[in-house]
Amino acid sequence: MKNTLGNAVTLTLFGESHKEAIGAVLDGLCPGVPVDEERIRAALEMRRPYGAISTGRREPDDFTIVSGIYEGRTTGTPLCILIPNTQQNSSDYDKTKNLVRPGHADYAALCKYHGFSDPRGGGHFSGRLTAPIVAAGAIAGGMLEQKGILLGTHIARCAGVDDRAFSNYPADLAALQSKRFATLDDAAGERMQEAIAAAAKDGDSVGGVLETAVLGVPAGVGEPWFGAVESELSAALFAIPAVKGVAFGGGFALSDLRGSAANDPFRVENGRVVTTTNHNGGVNGGITNGMPIVFSVAIKPTPSIFVPQDSVDVVSMQNATLQLSGRHDPAIVHRARAVVDAVTALVLCDLLTGRFGTDWWTA
Ligand SMILES: Cc1cc2nc3c(=O)[nH]c(=O)nc-3n(C[C@H](O)[C@H](O)[C@H](O)COP(=O)(O)O)c2cc1C
Repeated sequence: MKNTLGNAVTLTLFGESHKEAIGAVLDGLCPGVPVDEERIRAALEMRRPYGAISTGRREPDDFTIVSGIYEGRTTGTPLCILIPNTQQNSSDYDKTKNLVRPGHADYAALCKYHGFSDPRGGGHFSGRLTAPIVAAGAIAGGMLEQKGILLGTHIARCAGVDDRAFSNYPADLAALQSKRFATLDDAAGERMQEAIAAAAKDGDSVGGVLETAVLGVPAGVGEPWFGAVESELSAALFAIPAVKGVAFGGGFALSDLRGSAANDPFRVENGRVVTTTNHNGGVNGGITNGMPIVFSVAIKPTPSIFVPQDSVDVVSMQNATLQLSGRHDPAIVHRARAVVDAVTALVLCDLLTGRFGTDWWTA
């Protein structure tokens, strides 16, 4: 059973979609770090559903930090964030409760937990559990920012529509911060939202690609072989429900290039070693090289759709047609962006604590 992320700084996740509450425990934090509850609220707002492009389940996500802070700062002891579930409607699941949803975790969870897991709303596997991740990630993000490390994610592609590429990292990351639908090109964002709404009208769903950039991570962070920055980040990113691909820098496209095009040439600039391109996404040998860490995450279309699908009744062991009702996101990509930011911040906090020690954060 592995619901814990990290080594030096750990996040343990608990809860189910339709029980009283979900939450997370952060441990290994440096004592004395300011915790900005406004920042947590703002991050949760970026994950919250809205409009015709999101699920009708609109949770207020009123969180409480029940331990680990005193007078607005971390104590260094386990910090527990609780978020009540208030908008669950379990009757949505009654009619189809023995039919497993294609693409969702229902059948796999049934096998793993011998039928004892809570299936309502996806139970422990629900996207709802990403809310405490986002809350905890906002604390980690605040710590990184104090050390001059900035990060952000844009929707690089959704339903076949492309956003523009990052062109000026600091300006682009600053612009993304206030956008609920995080594209760099607003016109592309409009077209994506139209495509999501069109899929929703058909009872269907769409997927997309998120691209993240992290600025200011010093060179030399990460561990060979199995604690590589790429390994740690992708293990955490793949834990986000609906993530089906992670690629660093040029990713799969690098395999089509010659070495002369894929390599990032080194230069000295203002007394600092830099690379003139960043096809390797800021990581060489699993260790940061001081350039922006850049990676992409593929998000699949939401599995719960309202068109009839082939499934099975796991009690009668008969083939069946699944016609879902209830509330679901017609796309996950715009909400997952806040989760990707959170997970990235948590992993970097963990890696930097491993490299420089707990007290580095207040040094
Ligand atoms: C923010 C967020 C919201 C999600 N909302 C839904 C949803 O409304 N309906 C659904 O079927 N899946 C939703 N998912 C995805 C499922 O939780 C996920 O596909 C499922 O747990 C199976 O995991 P896998 O896709 O990683 O294999 C959401 C995921 C995230 C990150």
